[in-house]
Amino acid sequence: MNEAPPSLPPRRPIRDLPDELISQIAAGEVVERPASVVRELVDNALDSGATQITVRLLAGGVRLIAVEDDGCGIPQEELPIALRRHATSKITSLSDLETVATMGFRGEALAAIGSVSEMALLSRPAHQPGAFLLDARSGELRPAARGTGTTVEVKELFFSTPARRKFLKTDATELAHCIESVRRHALARPDVGFAIWHEGKLVEQWRATFTPGDANVQDALARRLADVLGEDFVAQSVAVQHRVGPVTVTGRAGLPDAARSRADHQYCYVNGRFVRDKVLTHAARSAYEDVLHGHKQPAYALYVEIDPARVDVNVHPTKIEVRFRDSREVHQAVRHAVENALAAPRAAALSAAPAEPAAAAVGVQASQPNLGSKQPQVQAWQAQAAIKFEERGHHVADLQ
Ligand SMILES: Nc1ncnc2c1ncn2[C@@H]1O[C@H](COP(=O)(O)OP(=O)(O)OP(=O)(O)O)[C@@H](O)[C@H]1O
Ligand SMILES: [Mg+2]
Repeated sequence: MNEAPPSLPPRRPIRDLPDELISQIAAGEVVERPASVVRELVDNALDSGATQITVRLLAGGVRLIAVEDDGCGIPQEELPIALRRHATSKITSLSDLETVATMGFRGEALAAIGSVSEMALLSRPAHQPGAFLLDARSGELRPAARGTGTTVEVKELFFSTPARRKFLKTDATELAHCIESVRRHALARPDVGFAIWHEGKLVEQWRATFTPGDANVQDALARRLADVLGEDFVAQSVAVQHRVGPVTVTGRAGLPDAARSRADHQYCYVNGRFVRDKVLTHAARSAYEDVLHGHKQPAYALYVEIDPARVDVNVHPTKIEVRFRDSREVHQAVRHAVENALAAPRAAALSAAPAEPAAAAVGVQASQPNLGSKQPQVQAWQAQAAIKFEERGHHVADLQ
């Protein structure tokens, strides 16, 4: 048969995309809504060693997101580099990536945000006599006033991509997402103070509950959990502390009676990073199998510490997903950690004498999120945590 071939569309030549468009495409993955910008900027502030982070928002973050920190700052000559795609101070090689201790490492957040907003960086490192302001769009760099640290200002998000802007919800909804984004960070970093302002009003403030020199790390986390999730969460939960092989699980697990109708108080962290992970949520859920019926959702904040070589954080640009080398070992550790914690109050009620901790468990009622950063402030907090464990015959390495 001699059928005529269907007519093909005219072929277009292969070309490199312009830089701006590459960033806008990348921004589609990283920046979904104002809360994604807040997440990236707070990540950066934490990586800079900040002890106080202030987030200011207008119109749910759509008109303005400004994140201010007292961290290490960016030298004047590096400000333009910070905006470039794939420019980072956090890794230099593939092996660094395998042991990455910072929240960021891809070197693309600022470039992505800058391509879909009007962005400005204002920064001053401690040794620099003054601050400098860089306007991302015009490239203008000029002296400005500021103490040590950095402020990143993001205005008119998605102004150049109206299709994206149409997906945004009401200001109140976007604000709620922004607050949730800061809450996730705050639960992992009781050593850092956070404040959120909206339309000139202070809407949340969580003061640092741990300062270097404090003895009680567990109390610091419990106080932060109470500040952020409410006193009830702490009153109606038990401390989790369990170690199996290379996996340590700490935090607090809500008692079955405190289960909620929504899964809104379920926080999981891997090496200090908030993650959404089916392995972890399934493991936690299965620990409640026998004590929770129907559709009730347990409340918990769980901090998994694992050798960074056993977990891949470079799965998705938002880094909210991780891939475990051995997900079964993590599943078992989390399940047992929560089961043991939930069993402890019942065992105590049955017997006046405290039950012996399980052989694999560390056996302390401590809660110790890893604060995954190389900054000096964090080292002080980690050192305190280590002291706690060493008092009981365990070592820093147990936690890392
Ligand atoms: N608040 C800040 N304080 C100090 N330095 C900062 C701050 N924000 C950004 N930087 C610097 O700018 C660089 C680029 O930031 P950006 O967020 O784009 O990339 P990253 O954090 O390295 O990686 P990722 O894309 O994974 O977030 C950082 O590596 C850091 O050196
Ligand atoms: Mg970053």
